[in-house]
Amino acid sequence: MFDLSSYLARRTLLIEEHLEALLPQETSAGGRLIEAMRYSLFAGGKRIRPVLCLAAAETVGGTAADALSVACALEMIHTYSLIHDDLPAMDDDALRRGKPTCHIAFDEATAILAGDGLLTFAFEIIASRCPAPPARTLAVLSLIAWAAGPQGMVRGQMLDMVIQGRPANVQEVEHLHGLKTGAMIEAALAAGALIAGGTDSEVAALRAFGRKLGLAFQVVDDILNVEGDPAIMGKAAGTDRIQGKNSYPALIGLEKSKEKAQNLLNEALESLSLFDFRADPLRAIARYVVTRNK
Ligand code: IPE
Ligand code: IPE
Ligand code: MG
Ligand code: MG
Repeated sequence: MFDLSSYLARRTLLIEEHLEALLPQETSAGGRLIEAMRYSLFAGGKRIRPVLCLAAAETVGGTAADALSVACALEMIHTYSLIHDDLPAMDDDALRRGKPTCHIAFDEATAILAGDGLLTFAFEIIASRCPAPPARTLAVLSLIAWAAGPQGMVRGQMLDMVIQGRPANVQEVEHLHGLKTGAMIEAALAAGALIAGGTDSEVAALRAFGRKLGLAFQVVDDILNVEGDPAIMGKAAGTDRIQGKNSYPALIGLEKSKEKAQNLLNEALESLSLFDFRADPLRAIARYVVTRNK
């Protein structure tokens, strides 16, 4: 039987150690920037995107080592997106990963720069540290730039702001969630498969899996914002309603949102049908994403 908790513990440790090696403590004059980057990066995230990336590499017959730099880069980009998401000009949140948000622990300017630093450093890591042939590395760079950029996550964040406070329809919210959260999760899967030399059909299947799972991830994030426990999640609850966010529960109610997450999980699992036991970690992570409480 596949044991998800020991798998996640081993994978998370590997990622933490590699991140630590990539971004060591620095005590020189510019050290405050590194300190703020490290503060948010090591605050205790679930590391879902990097774990998915490593699992995708293994699903297509590669090793975790093939994808480790890309996985860590994805976590840096994700952490940057959280730092900026929490800024007063955006969601204005004071708690993240169980700790004061970066702009509270440091100051706004430092938080903006820490985000900028993590984003750009991530691309340096992929470009300079990937053990894969250059053509594969280039494909991954282009994919992740798309997912993080103005056609992907950043566009989703803009839509989140633009339609805040006015009722949106289901298509609009699905589109926005697919961009702000789905794109980076889709990219984590596709990048892991690409860097490990997966075939076109394997990459496409993992990408389809990632698209469904990414949307499910944000639907669950919305549900947790209504009924989750801030002490467990390490971030505030109830904020979507106060800020007039177009969340799934606001749109279709809690019960239908839970059904939606379950349906997306089933569709995601169907996308894995061409893979054997090597995709079992992905299957287990997908179930966890929908049943998680943090
Ligand atoms: C939270 O992501 C923000 C979203 C994109 C929904 P996670 O739930 O993965 O947060 P961490 O990384 O574990 O803190
Ligand atoms: C965060 O979405 C999405 C990104 C950071 C790209 P939310 O604003 O809904 O997530 P939380 O609830 O703050 O983690
Ligand atoms: Mg937000
Ligand atoms: Mg937020």
